[in-house]
This record gives sequence, structure tokens and C-alpha cells, in this order.
Amino acid sequence: MKTTLEKLAIDGGPRTVPELRPHRSKIAGEELWAIVDMWGFPAERKERLKDLILGTSEIEGPHLFRYYNPKPSRVEAAEAGMRELVGTKHCLATNSCTSALVASYRALSIGAGDEVIVPAYTFFATAATVASSNAIPVIADIDETLNLDPESVERTITPRTKAIAPVHMRGAAAQMDAIMHVANKHGIPVVEDVAQAAGGSFQGKKLGSIGTMGCFSFDYYKVLVSGEGGFITTDDEWLYTRAQSWHDCAACWRPDRFAKEKHEGELFCGENYRMSELEGAVAMVQIQRADEILAGHRRAKARIKEQIGQFPGVSFRRLTDADGDTGICMVMFLPDAVTTQKALEAMQAEGVPVGGVYDKKVRDWHIYKYWEQVMTQKSVATDNLPWSGVRKEDLPKYSVDMCPRTLELLSNALLFDIDYTLTADECDLIAAAINKVLHAVVA
Ligand SMILES: Cc1ncc(COP(=O)(O)O)c(C=O)c1O
Repeated sequence: MKTTLEKLAIDGGPRTVPELRPHRSKIAGEELWAIVDMWGFPAERKERLKDLILGTSEIEGPHLFRYYNPKPSRVEAAEAGMRELVGTKHCLATNSCTSALVASYRALSIGAGDEVIVPAYTFFATAATVASSNAIPVIADIDETLNLDPESVERTITPRTKAIAPVHMRGAAAQMDAIMHVANKHGIPVVEDVAQAAGGSFQGKKLGSIGTMGCFSFDYYKVLVSGEGGFITTDDEWLYTRAQSWHDCAACWRPDRFAKEKHEGELFCGENYRMSELEGAVAMVQIQRADEILAGHRRAKARIKEQIGQFPGVSFRRLTDADGDTGICMVMFLPDAVTTQKALEAMQAEGVPVGGVYDKKVRDWHIYKYWEQVMTQKSVATDNLPWSGVRKEDLPKYSVDMCPRTLELLSNALLFDIDYTLTADECDLIAAAINKVLHAVVA
């Protein structure tokens, strides 16, 4: 063992360990190559890129954690981009919309014994997160907008209702004027589920800025994507602070991380829903490209839609604000379920990118009747929460046919996916194929 009897450095002696050279980054060329390799470059360019990336020694890799990052945080930049896109004072990045919903419900103090109204047609996450927050999901019907019917919302309000969660399904706004009217009348907060409609708007206001809080998904099947990812938008600083606490396992890494709570209710035991810098970097670019992506969807949809002829019993989904529609899809109602199925098969045979919305053979998690965990009141633990949080007689009467209007509307709907890169010629061919089939099936 090497020891020295010289004076201690703290007492003015020589320093034993010199300034260490900077550590090699935890993330370097190999990791960058693993990412670039996913992009599918042609073989020759791939080899050149590989040589360039792996042949560069001493690269200063990224810092992939948003907090205490010595470099500018991409997650923070993405949050700033969302604040600008949506027009709210605050934005918090999360690792999914599912976690954004839980953090929002928790920020609103929702828990055992509370109820949240959700639509009968939405991805299961909107309802599942209510239950995983220990509250009761109350299912309300939809209408021809394919979104929450405000009258059904009003009918399902009880003294236990702590939030209403309208979902802007398939890229288009719910009836936010009527829903906000009902919510304000009863003093109930609104959590907009904007998972499928980033960049959309309603009467000049961006979705996610109308209710109390907005929750976005950036998973790979959404309008704007980062693989996985989500955002919470709000004008309410207190709710932002509480969502931040929940999303950061009790605010462990927040700026000023060791500070005590400034206000009662700021700190509590939470979970980890933080977004990584990798997702932040991708999300940031997607947000910057939002106008271009939305314009592409809208252009293609308008071109297809304006060419569809008039057919008896055929109508389009009612749009609450056609200008604010993201244009990610076109929905059409046919006269009945049998005709819808016939048209669907014929259109698919023509090569049209179309799907049914309610195929009785498919256990589709977007339709309430397949939410078995809710229908049969499943619990993860012996405490039987959330169902044990209210008296048995106060539980909603769940049944697979509790929302017949929703099932009827979905049975008669066809959903056309609109890719934002469709060319004018491709749009014309799709429109021609739709007309051809409708002519044969319903005319
Ligand atoms: C309406 C709706 N809400 C919430 C979610 C959950 O989003 P994520 O996959 O980001 O958790 C989705 C995703 O499919 C969705 O469509």
C-alpha cells in the first residue's frame, strides 16, 4: 500500500490525486450506432455511417436524464414546444399518456371513493387509469361525433364525480363547449384525453388547453410520435406542481430537489413517469414538424372527402369543428352493420386503407364492452379497490349492453386511415375505390 507522510492538502500540503481526465461518457459510439442502425439506410451508406460513428474516438456522448443535465435538456425543449403548440402556461413531459392521465387524476386529488366519467368508446387506458388511481370509471355514451355525448355526461354525474375525461377520438374534438358548460355548472374539473388528436383544435382553442388539464400520447401510433411518450398541459400551476411530484417518485429529482414542500399537498409518495432525453429529442423534432404533418393529413383528407358522392343512408362522422380536425382519418356511417361489413370487405379488396370500428369477432380494447376488468370489477389486491371505495349500491351498473347507442354507431362505421404523405393521385384512387364500392353496395 502506498502512503505519504506529507502534509495534508487541506493544511496546505500537495494534492495527492491530480485533476482526473474527463470520464468516458456512459453512452458513446456503439449506442449511437445501435440507434442509427434502426433507420434502415441503404447498405452502402450504412457502412459509411458505421465507420464514421464507430471510428470516432473521444466522442462526448449525451446525458440522457432530464434533471441535472449539464447540457440543454431535450425534454425541456419538447415541453416548451408543447406549451407553444397547445398554448398553455405549463407542460410536463411523461413517459406515456397512460402515465399522464394517472398523474393528472392524482394531481386533482382523485382517489378511493371518487368517480370519473369516461366515454364508452376510447382506448382502455382512459378508464383503466381511473381504476388504477383507485377511483370508479363511470361510462357515458357517445354520439355521431364518436365522442362523449354531453347529455349522457350530465345523466351520469353523481355527488362522487371528481372529473370528466372527454377523449378527442380519431383526431377530432369532442363537443367541448357543451361538456365545459356541464362541467362548470357542477364545478367538476375536465381532463382532456388528447392522445389521438395532438395539434387539433376546437373553436380556435387548441385541444388540451380547454379543460383543466390535457393529456397527450406520443406513442408510435399517434399523430406526433417519439416511440413512447406523453405530455400534460395545464394553465394551473398548482396542478402542474402536483403532477410533477407524482411523475417524479415524490418529487425526488425536481429542480431544488432537497427542498421541503412550500405548500401543504406539494409532496407525497408518487411513481416514476419521467421522459428520457432520447424520447425528448425525437418529440422535440416532431413538435417542430407538427404544422407540416397536420397540413399533410388535412390536405389528403380534404381531397378524398370532397370526391365522395352522395349515397342513400351514408353520412360522415359529425365534426364539431371541421377546421380543427387533425385529418388523421375519415369516418363514414353506413345504413346498417351488414352493409358496413360488405362495404368494408369490398373496399379492402380494392386496396383502400380502411378498417371497421366494431367487428364482433374482435375483442377491441377501444370499446367499453371488452373492458372486462371494469365490467367484472377486477382488483389487483385483496383490498378490492377501486370497487370497495364506494357502497355496493352506489357502483355503476356495468353491463356489456349498457351503451347501446355507442354499439350501434360503431357497428355502422368505417374508418379510413389518412397518411400525411399521400399524393394527390393516391387520394384520387382511394376516393374512386370508395365511390365504386358504395355505388355497388348501397346505391
Ligand atoms: C385515447 C387514448 N388514451 C390514452 C392512450 C394511452 O396512450 P399511451 O400509449 O401513450 O400510454 C391511448 C393510446 O392508444 C389512446 O388512444
